[in-house]
Amino acid sequence: MSDTKIALVTGGTGGIGTTLCRALTDQGRKVVANYFPPEKENAEAWQAEQKEAGYDIGIAGADVTDYDAVGEMIKSIEEEFGPVSILVNCAGITRDKTLKGMTPDMWNAVINTNLNSAYNVTRQVFLGMTERGFGRIVNISSINGQKGQFGQANYSAAKAGLHGFTMAVAQEGARKNVTVNTVSPGYVETDMTALIAQEVLDSIIKQIPMGRMAQPEEIALAVTFCTDDANSFMTGANLPVNGGMFIH
Ligand code: CAA
Repeated sequence: MSDTKIALVTGGTGGIGTTLCRALTDQGRKVVANYFPPEKENAEAWQAEQKEAGYDIGIAGADVTDYDAVGEMIKSIEEEFGPVSILVNCAGITRDKTLKGMTPDMWNAVINTNLNSAYNVTRQVFLGMTERGFGRIVNISSINGQKGQFGQANYSAAKAGLHGFTMAVAQEGARKNVTVNTVSPGYVETDMTALIAQEVLDSIIKQIPMGRMAQPEEIALAVTFCTDDANSFMTGANLPVNGGMFIH
């Protein structure tokens, strides 16, 4: 039997997710990218594109806000590929608005997709990891979960919550060689930051000491550091990858 470990990346077909899937494949993992089911056609096209570029990546649809749907997805991944040993919780959305205009729908969508999702997925792979004595979990948070961001009360709350989740679960996994860490990217060139109005983006870039946004590869490097088999004593950490925009 192959000893290749299975890595699941939620939001795997997205801006940072795609690069993470490739980097984890380069690390020797069998990667499965989770996608949002209404995007099935796009996900299949994405998979074909990856294959053409030399990356054989599995895809698995499930709405990460739905606990039972996630359970079904994990069952089918385990049947097809084997148990999940590496999990990257990367699914995330924005619904930016100042608090006075932020509707309950905007609040709930972001909390459900960016924070509750981590519980929904992690809970359903964690026990297996502890039983097998190996696990690497990485939660993709954000600089805006560390410092807060004007217009992002929902997103900042969810991303700060993710690191709280990391710190708690890290303690629960520690004796079983299951590490749990957070990576907090700053502003990265993806479809998500492309939604920001140009003049707002220009003023944000002025606040980044490196004077530019990150490339997804620069985030992936921190993630594969966390998922390395040999990286077995670092847990509960929050790695900032933000070009010096927030240092503490
Ligand atoms: N500090 C103080 N005032 C600010 C401000 C800031 N940082 N940013 C905007 N304002 C002001 C504007 O100048 C404007 O002032 P006037 O009303 O006097 O003209 C006012 O706030 C805008 O207020 P509104 O209530 O009209 O704004 P809105 O509810 O439509 O929301 C916004 C505006 C969508 C939040 C817009 O400011 C914005 O896009 N901000 C950027 C948010 C951001 O950084 N998002 C990151 C997305 S990428 C991501 O999230 C990935 C990651 O992890 C980093």
